[in-house]
Amino acid sequence: MRTRIIAACNDAPPSMEEIHRTIFNRLLTAWIAISLATGAAVFYIGIEKIDDQLVDLAVAESGKLSSESLPLLNRPEADRGALQTLASDFVRRHFIVVELYDKERRKVSEAINPRHAAVEEKLKAHAHPFPRDDQRHYEKFVLGEDTVLRVLVPLKDANGSRAGYFEGVFLIDPETLDRLRREMAMTLVVVLCAVLLTTVVLYPVILALNRDVIRYSRDLLKGNVELMEVLGSAIAKRDSDTNLHNYRVAIYAVKLAEAAGVARAAIRDLIAGAFLHDVGKIGISDNILLKPGRLDEQEFAVMRTHVSLGVDILEKSAWLQRARDVVEFHHERYDGSGYLRGLKGEEIPVTARVFAVVDIFDALTSKRPYKDPIPFAEALDILRGYAGNHLDARLVEIFAGMIEPLFREICASPDKEVEQMLKALINRYIVDAAKA
Ligand SMILES: [Fe+2]
Ligand SMILES: [Fe+2]
Repeated sequence: MRTRIIAACNDAPPSMEEIHRTIFNRLLTAWIAISLATGAAVFYIGIEKIDDQLVDLAVAESGKLSSESLPLLNRPEADRGALQTLASDFVRRHFIVVELYDKERRKVSEAINPRHAAVEEKLKAHAHPFPRDDQRHYEKFVLGEDTVLRVLVPLKDANGSRAGYFEGVFLIDPETLDRLRREMAMTLVVVLCAVLLTTVVLYPVILALNRDVIRYSRDLLKGNVELMEVLGSAIAKRDSDTNLHNYRVAIYAVKLAEAAGVARAAIRDLIAGAFLHDVGKIGISDNILLKPGRLDEQEFAVMRTHVSLGVDILEKSAWLQRARDVVEFHHERYDGSGYLRGLKGEEIPVTARVFAVVDIFDALTSKRPYKDPIPFAEALDILRGYAGNHLDARLVEIFAGMIEPLFREICASPDKEVEQMLKALINRYIVDAAKA
């Protein structure tokens, strides 16, 4: 499925239905992504705010350890009862656990809120590191239903030297978490509505812009098709004074490719190839190109260069490159005896194999300055004689089975009608390809 909105210059522009679908899908994806990202950000910022408040509280509380009580931490012989009282006071006020450490990181005192003893039990499984840089340090744990925050604050004495550590554990209130989740859900709803509203407002604008791009893109495509027709016509004017050979071979080639199940994109390339197959003959001098009799060996060698000249000409246009396979390989033969490269069998691109069948058929059944047309049945016999050596036998068989009614129709149609038949195929495979 195509998902692009703006068509590349060498493809048919997408249909409006495709554009609607693409814009809708992209806006919907953006809508969901923005909403989820905003919701998550709101939640994260809320949680961070709570963490900061709790850490600040721990720092403020630890600051209440007076200059008299701090030295007790590092005096083993001192009365630790005073420290224990202090720790219990802290627990009563804000914490579920408070631990005091001396400067050697030995636990000196501990107080636990008895209602949360189970949480402290679980917390023991999470050993804490002591901050190396004398900075406060905190960690958060989810222990079953509870979310706890453990803060470790280095303690300094009056001289600024490390005196010990204060560790406080908070239980983050489930109501606070519920409030945050509700805020997140509300923000999500607001963001969803805002983005939806923006989408509704922007949709017609994007659509209108795309319509313009598609119009330009179609104009560009039309210009490319015209370039293909002009180039095909330029070479036709030089060697036969008529475009009809190009028109007929393009029609035959498309019908044979359809019957042989060739892919749609390859048929598109085949049309351009049919128009331009002999574009390199522009570079062949008149005395060889228009010579009424047979060419001698040297002249034929010059004539063969029309293939590489054609490839050179196509090099100038990215869009015309699609014709390259036919231009480069239309004189290859299935048994490897052709030119320029001597490719064999399926090494020859299918478009060039299809084209070789119809080019020979049309050359046989057309009038040329040096010969009359060969009757239909006889032309088919000659073609069958080429099956497997010059031409792909499977394609010859398919062609022989389907060509008669089309050949009769083209023979009976005025030139203008043949041109119209081809225009319809160009529209179907190139210009309106996306609508098909
Ligand atoms: Fe040729
Ligand atoms: Fe030809």
